[in-house]
Amino acid sequence: MELKVYQNKVKVAEEFSKYLIEKSDTQKAFHIALSGGSTPKIVFDVLAEEFSNDVDWKNIHLYWGDERCVAPANDESNYKMTVEHLISKVDIPEENIHRIKGEDDPKTEAKRYGELLDRELPKELGLPQFDLVILGMGDDGHTASIFPHEINLWVSPDNCEVAIHPESGQRRVSLTGRIINNARTVAFLVTGESKAEKVKIIVDREEGYLEYPASHVAPKTKDLVWFLDAAAAKLLTSSQS
Ligand code: 6PG
Repeated sequence: MELKVYQNKVKVAEEFSKYLIEKSDTQKAFHIALSGGSTPKIVFDVLAEEFSNDVDWKNIHLYWGDERCVAPANDESNYKMTVEHLISKVDIPEENIHRIKGEDDPKTEAKRYGELLDRELPKELGLPQFDLVILGMGDDGHTASIFPHEINLWVSPDNCEVAIHPESGQRRVSLTGRIINNARTVAFLVTGESKAEKVKIIVDREEGYLEYPASHVAPKTKDLVWFLDAAAAKLLTSSQS
């Protein structure tokens, strides 16, 4: 795994934008699974406002690594956040946006989205393969919407599962480990002091690290990059960051 540590969130956003531009400059369709939460907001803002002319948006296809089971107009919706901070600001064709329908029955949507991935994505080792999966990490070590209390969902034989947020009980549709680890590249975007403890445990594989879903992210290609700000990386020894 590669660690890229930058001074602050804006620098993380700028450096990740440059990384994405380089990775997606392939002259063909580039399929990306986006994460939700608050960290991507600043990344999407910087990408859209400072680098949008450097991306060939007609080749970019957007999917989600997870979505809250709410309507697309709901403030909790990852899709809504992405429209506000990215999609509304760039010239990406509507047909390239493949949202998870949070308004539909969760189990039905998990099945539909899993089938969509089978249809839309190229196959690698018989499974749908994203070019890039962007992930966040919760303070509890969850990633996508696989939470520690339901870590068994990581090894589901299905492409997507319905997960339940441990505090709010909110249902979510999430990619599972078989899809995340089949990606060409996985990039974590993790910022803020509240992540530092889990970053250290997971990166250093400290005792009990496998309790945290983020520690199970291990793409078969080995192409795993952590974009961290100094606050999230503060417990790592200098040799790692
Ligand atoms: C979501 C995300 C989730 C997020 C983490 C980190 O739907 O909330 O996909 O996995 O990435 O909770 O969120 P922050 O970046 O806001 O800390």
